[in-house]
Formats: sequence, C-alpha cells, structure tokens
Amino acid sequence: MNLSIIGAGYVGLVTACCFAELGHKVKCIEKDSEKVKMLKKGSIPIYEPGLEEILKKNIGKNLFFTTSIADGVKESPVIFICVGTPQDRRGSADLFQVEEVAREIARNINGYKLIVEKSTVPLDSHIWINKTIQRFAKKGVTFDVASNPEFLKEGSAIEDFMKPDRIVIGVSSERAKKILLDLYSNFKCKKIVTNPQTSKLIKYSANIFLATKISFINNIADISEKVGADVNVVADAIGVDERIGRAFLNAGVGYGGSCLPKDVKAFIKIAESAGIDFKILKEIDRYNDERPLMIVKKVKEALWILKDKEIAIFGLSFKPNTDDIREAASLKIIPQLLAENARIRLYDPVAELQFRKIFPESEAVRYFKTPYEAVEGAHLLLILTEWEDFKKIDINKIAGLMVIPIVVDGRNIFPPAKMKKTGFEYYSIGRV
Ligand code: UGA
Repeated sequence: MNLSIIGAGYVGLVTACCFAELGHKVKCIEKDSEKVKMLKKGSIPIYEPGLEEILKKNIGKNLFFTTSIADGVKESPVIFICVGTPQDRRGSADLFQVEEVAREIARNINGYKLIVEKSTVPLDSHIWINKTIQRFAKKGVTFDVASNPEFLKEGSAIEDFMKPDRIVIGVSSERAKKILLDLYSNFKCKKIVTNPQTSKLIKYSANIFLATKISFINNIADISEKVGADVNVVADAIGVDERIGRAFLNAGVGYGGSCLPKDVKAFIKIAESAGIDFKILKEIDRYNDERPLMIVKKVKEALWILKDKEIAIFGLSFKPNTDDIREAASLKIIPQLLAENARIRLYDPVAELQFRKIFPESEAVRYFKTPYEAVEGAHLLLILTEWEDFKKIDINKIAGLMVIPIVVDGRNIFPPAKMKKTGFEYYSIGRV
C-alpha cells in the first residue's frame, strides 16, 4: 500500500521504517527540516536497537522523507497521524499538532482518504479530526477517521511492531475496517476491531494498568523494607498466578518515560471530563511523582551529610536500551543531590549526550566513559537504570576503587548477600 506517516518521532519513525520493511511504499512527513536531512542520510536521531539498519535498507526504495504534508496526502490513500501529544499545563494531552495536521490534510485532500490516529489521543479526538476536515476541505470529499494505537516499547520497538500481542483497530465504517485489516493481513496475532472510542480506551487502559502494577509493587517494596520481607520473592510468587503475571512487577525508582507518566495524568483528566473522579489513578500518579525523593532519602540515610561527597550514578535514561531521558528518575534525583552540595560522577552507555544538554559538565557534574572511572574515589554508587552491562560489572573492582563501598541500588540488580560478602554496605528496594 501507499502509506503516509505524519510525524517522525518515536512512534512515527518506527511505524514508517517497519511498514517499509514489510514492503509498503511509505512517505514519512516531518516538519523539522534538520531531522529530515539527517533521516535522508540514513541516521536516526534516537537510540533504538535495529532501527537504523531498517532505515538504511529501505531509504530511497520503499521509504521517503519529506517536510510536505501536501505531497504525502495527495499520494497516499492511508495517512497515519503520529505527531506528539504533549502534556498541557493542566495535565491533559495537548492536541494542537493533531489539529494542525488535520487542517493540512483537509487542504490537500484529493479523493478518498483513511486517516488513522496512532498517537495516544483522547477518546473523542477522532470526532474533532472529522469535524476539522469537514470544515476546511472542499465540499463532497470522502474520508474516514480511524484509530490504530501502537503498543511498542522503547528499546524493543521493532520486535513489538513486527510481532505484536494484538492489533487494535477502531473504525466507524466497513471501508475503513477492510483497509486496515488488509494492511495487517500478514500479522498472525489477535485483531480487535471495535469503535474508535473503545480502541483509544484500550490504549490508555493498557498504559494506566501497567503504571498501576508498578506503583503497587513499589508500595509492597516499602512495606517489605519495614517488615524484613523480600519484594522480589513476593513478585515472583504472585507473578506465577496467571491472573496476575510477573511482568511489570519490578520494584524500583518509579516509572518514567514519555508515555506512562503522561498517559496517567491525561487519563485522570479524561475521567474528570466524563464526570468520574478516578481516585486510585490519582494516588498512583502522586506516589510515582514522589518516588525519586525516596531514593534521595536512602542516599542521605547512607551518607548522612552530602556536602562534598562524590556520588557515582549509573544509568541516566528512564530505562535500559534507550537514550531517552524524558521523565527519567535521574532528572529529579540529581538536582536534589546537587542542592545538598554533593558532587556527581555520571556514567550511562548511551544517554550521556542527551543528559549533557540539561546538565552540562561542571565542577559538580562530571561524565565518565567507563563505569570504573565513574566510581573512582566515590563515596557512594547509585544505580538508576538496569542495563544488562551493569549486572555483569566486576563488583570486586568497583569496591576497590571506591573510598567507601556503599551502593544504593534503585533497580535491585545485585543479590544482597553477594554484595554484603564483597564488603559493600548495600541498600536496595524492598529487600534486606
Ligand atoms: C510504554 C508501554 O509499556 C508500551 O506498551 C506503550 O506502547 C508505550 O508506553 C507507549 O504508550 O508508547 P515505554 O514508555 O517504552 O512503553 O516503557 P516501559 O517499558 O513501559 O517502561 C516505563 C517505565 O516503567 C520505565 O521507567 C521502567 O523502568 C518502569 N518499570 C517497568 C518499572 O519500574 N518496573 C517494571 O516492572 C517495569
């Protein structure tokens, strides 16, 4: 099929590259001309395993980049909207980019079009897109607006796109249903065809449920610490029950990233506008916002006075296998440590460049190329992301390089007994 993908952010770029890889002719439209230049040369502005290879393979063959929505709309019967829906001041999703795109589509519509919402958007946005196109397009144009949310995770986005657990299609016409089912005909997973409202509610429900699981297990971790229990053993044991499942029951520094925190806040507002006070979700949100403070408290309990202490930090991104630092715990924890006049020694396998834009190198903030250099002379090591490489680190060497071997492990990557045997004063989450 001839497809247009509007927006070359995380979702748009992965969608465009993967559809091209599957043999469709894809035009990816992005208003940032610098980004387009970069993509045309075959480099991606984000770190996502496998994505650059697919881009390089398909560029100029099945995959084209442009800044012009007009080109894409005229050539493609199917148009995916993948633009950002950032949080506004009230916590709702800000849809100004979606509206702008809808107007531009309307101005260039030249025959039947299926416009598909892929960004995470409120439950009534398809009605507004529909109205906007009716208002700004020539009379008599035919089009449908559908919803087809994505469920990909950063760090495993290609795999999630190519082998999804399910495909959700929200449509209001048989024509739209047929086009989307044809597009995904080679995917063997479960396909759910429903109306657009339900489709978008599925997307939000999935994300807020995942956030709920994380805040739930973090609360259990707090209790575990107080009573001498082990949260990991609890998670393993309850996770065996297939009604519960083990995934997303890893206690830690709280959920971050561009989706879960934003979607929880936006859904509280969606519920409010439906007249529902979603109290549990409000509590999940509040608890998660405060989670980084708990880590700072642990650091203070271990070191007492932070002034002039050298604190090494491993992991700056919101999770492993990505350089994305949006809503990462590191962004909230580091300013608090600096406010107490600690000196920070940072190491991350890929997120350093992104982090430097917010925390430039200074006397108090230094970056290191290896984890071993970062801990040299440190009074405490704080782990904020569970990269596989951190788990394989030589802990004897780490202990030898530090002034005092203290570890605050915000992701439970080491076995406590082993750490204590190596001579570490070891603090983790919900384990003794
Ligand atoms: C999330 C969802 O998992 C995807 O299904 C969804 O498509 C995506 O949002 C989206 O809406 O676009 P993502 O933001 O890439 O994906 O990250 P997750 O893997 O969900 O992790 C979110 C946060 O939860 C991270 O900070 C992670 O460290 C944390 N987490 C995750 C935990 O603290 N404990 C866990 O057990 C699992």
